[in-house]
Formats: sequence, C-alpha cells, structure tokens
Amino acid sequence: MSSSQPLLFVNASQVVTCEGPARARRGAEMSDAGIRTNVGVAVVGDRIAAVAPVMELRDVYRTAKEIDCRNGVLLPGFVDSHTHGVFGRPRFEEQEMRAAGLDYMEIARRGGGIHSSVRDLRSKSEDVLFELAYERLLRLATFGTTTVELKSGYGLSVEDELKTLRVIRRLSDVLPLRIVPTFLGAHEIPLESRTSTESRKAYVDLVIHEMIPAVAAERLARFADVFCETGVYTVDESRAVLTAARNAGMLLKLHADELTSSGGAELAASIGATSADHLAAVSDDGIKALGSGSTVATLLPGTMLFLGKTKHAPARRLIEAGVPVALATDFNPGTSPTTNVSLVLTLGVSQLHLSVAEALIAATVNGAAALGIANEVGQIAAGFSADMSLFDIRDVRELPYWYGDNRCVVSYTRGKACHPSDLGLT
Ligand code: NIG
Ligand code: FE
Repeated sequence: MSSSQPLLFVNASQVVTCEGPARARRGAEMSDAGIRTNVGVAVVGDRIAAVAPVMELRDVYRTAKEIDCRNGVLLPGFVDSHTHGVFGRPRFEEQEMRAAGLDYMEIARRGGGIHSSVRDLRSKSEDVLFELAYERLLRLATFGTTTVELKSGYGLSVEDELKTLRVIRRLSDVLPLRIVPTFLGAHEIPLESRTSTESRKAYVDLVIHEMIPAVAAERLARFADVFCETGVYTVDESRAVLTAARNAGMLLKLHADELTSSGGAELAASIGATSADHLAAVSDDGIKALGSGSTVATLLPGTMLFLGKTKHAPARRLIEAGVPVALATDFNPGTSPTTNVSLVLTLGVSQLHLSVAEALIAATVNGAAALGIANEVGQIAAGFSADMSLFDIRDVRELPYWYGDNRCVVSYTRGKACHPSDLGLT
C-alpha cells in the first residue's frame, strides 16, 4: 500500500487531544486535557486530518487503513523537553555514595559527577557515542515519547562539544523520533579550567568566542543552555553565554535554581529564555519574574527523587502565578537515569500536586512550547503533526497510577511508526 494511504485510529476508549491554542498553557488552561470518547483520529500523510466520530471519518476517508486501538487510550506523543541523552558510561557508583551521605555537589568537587562523564565522553569516539545513544533513545521511545531534546555538555572542549552535537545530528537523521538539539558547553567549568580566576574566565571566553560560533556555523543546535548554579556558572557568566548564543541565532534555556536559589529564574525571565528548568529552589522573586514573562518552567521531579531530595519545585505556586509548567525526565547518567515519562507524570501528581490533566498538558503542549514547537506537536488536532502514542489502559488516570509501568503499545511520529520501529529494540 502506498505510504500516503490515510490511517484511521478507531476503538480508542479515550482520545486525549490536549486541543487548544498552539502555545504554552497557563493557569486554568492547564486543567483541560481535551479528553474525548467515541471519536477516532484520521491521519493523512504526516498530519492529523480530523478528530471525529468514527462513522463520519469512515465516510470521508473511504480508502483509509484502520488501526484498532483495542480500547486503549490515545495521547499526543510525549515531548521530553530536557535530556542529556548522549553520554558514555552510566554513573551508578554515585548513587551509593549519596546514600552513604555524600552530596551531589561534593561528589562533583571531588572530580566526580559531570567531570566524570566529561573524562569518559572525551575518551570515546563519535561512533561509540552514537551507538550508545541510539540504543538509549530506542528505549526512550518505548515509553511513548515522540519528541526529545538532547543536550551536549559532557565534552567541554570545542572538539568534544562538536563531536556530541554531530552525534545528535546523526541520531535525528536515522531515528523516527523528533530530536531538538541544545548546546550546553557551559554545563560545568572543566577541571583543568578551575585552577585560577584567569583560567575560569578563559573557559567562558572559549564558550563565547569559539564554541558558539562553531556550533552556529554548522547549525548544530537550536537552543543554548547554561547550568546556572552556586559553584557552577554565576548569573553574570550565564548571561554572557546566553547573550552570545542569542546573537548567534540560538533560542535560550537555563538550568535555573536547581539546588540553590541563585537568581537563575530571574535571569531566564529577563533574557527571554524559552524555558527555565529545574526550579526546585526558585525564590519568591523568581516565581514573580517568571509569572510576568513568557518563559516555560520545566520541572524535573525525577531528578529530585533520584538525588534523594525531599524538596520539589513549587509547581502549584508557579501555576497560580500564571507560569506555564512543563514536565520532563532530565534523562542523564548522574541525576536522572530514567527515560520513563509516565513515571514523571506519577511524580508530577504525587509530589508536585498537579492534577492528571495538568501533568498531561505539561508533558505534551507545554513541553512542545519549551522547545518552541507548540504549533507543530503536542496536540491531537487537525493540522498538527501525526505524533501519537497508544497506551494499554482504559482511563488516562491509569497512566500516573500504575507507577513505574510501561503501558505504551505503539507510537507514531509524522504518521510513521516510531515505536516499535524496525530499528532494533522491541
Ligand atoms: O540537569 N544539573 C546539571 N545537569 C544535569 C546533571 C548532569 C549530571 O550529573 O551528569 C541535571 O541534573
Ligand atoms: Fe539537566
């Protein structure tokens, strides 16, 4: 059959459309996930053509191939808008170190943490990194994610940052997943540049004057990001890097107020970042600043869970202040080695006190807004890309409920199979 044969998704117990304005949702808008029953979805080419009662769709799309949803729940493909998915070896030894009382930042001060992943990534070839990331992304897709952001940031040299971003480009060329690349050369100050104020400044200059132009010249990143945190990048350094990235044509993100409150949210809002991420330690002023701007607050509760922290981002206060909230995995080898967005939904409801509808909007429409693509993905509505995932549940509230489970049966990106794909993992 020709690939342009329309598809009709029938027999879904619910279609969670998330239909509405093609932009970040805030406040009460987040409470409506657009759940519909007794409807099917028509897909023509790479687009959603219609959501309507199946009898009507059958009338219009007479030659369509029917896909039986077997009473499952159909959702927009998840948009995982914050990951560090290109890395070498996992860092499981640090989990026990933390359990024994060593803090994440203390491990970093001793040369572990991000520094450990940097040593490792520098020692690995582009091909090896590609193979590792390829497998991990196939696994990520099994959970119903159809769009994923991938950051560099374990290279911290011109050559190794470019190597990472080229891996990301290759991944997006071969995988059905939609991939959004982010340059994070300012993820840490590399150990060799931590020896003096001058060497530290020289590294920030390297990011601004060499890495950013090189990344822009090869058009390797849509976003630039900085880890703005006490002991890592100051607000002034972060502003300088983000300003240079913007001048080079990139959109902006910021790791802001993850562990301590250092003015990151205020910087993200004032510089017009597309998203401010983490925010577990955001200040009252930070919430206010975000509330009067357009930056999406991307919350990563898996990170706090895995680090053993009891403090979570103040999601309710952010929503009450009118800040659009997104949820993502933060998939990385140090602080959040999970690719399971359903688990993040569980944490969103049980730890961040979101309603199920708010958590769903956060992982779809608002994730898309955090990547600047809310006009393309995040909704099951006519005109949007046909990015959808089917789950073996009858009611969408089961998704955060069966926590840790994977109920995703199949997913589509641009109207084509994303998971299972014919690329290896089933
Ligand atoms: O988002 N906070 C900075 N970056 C990652 C952790 C990276 C790592 O520990 O390897 C995060 O949590
Ligand atoms: Fe992160």
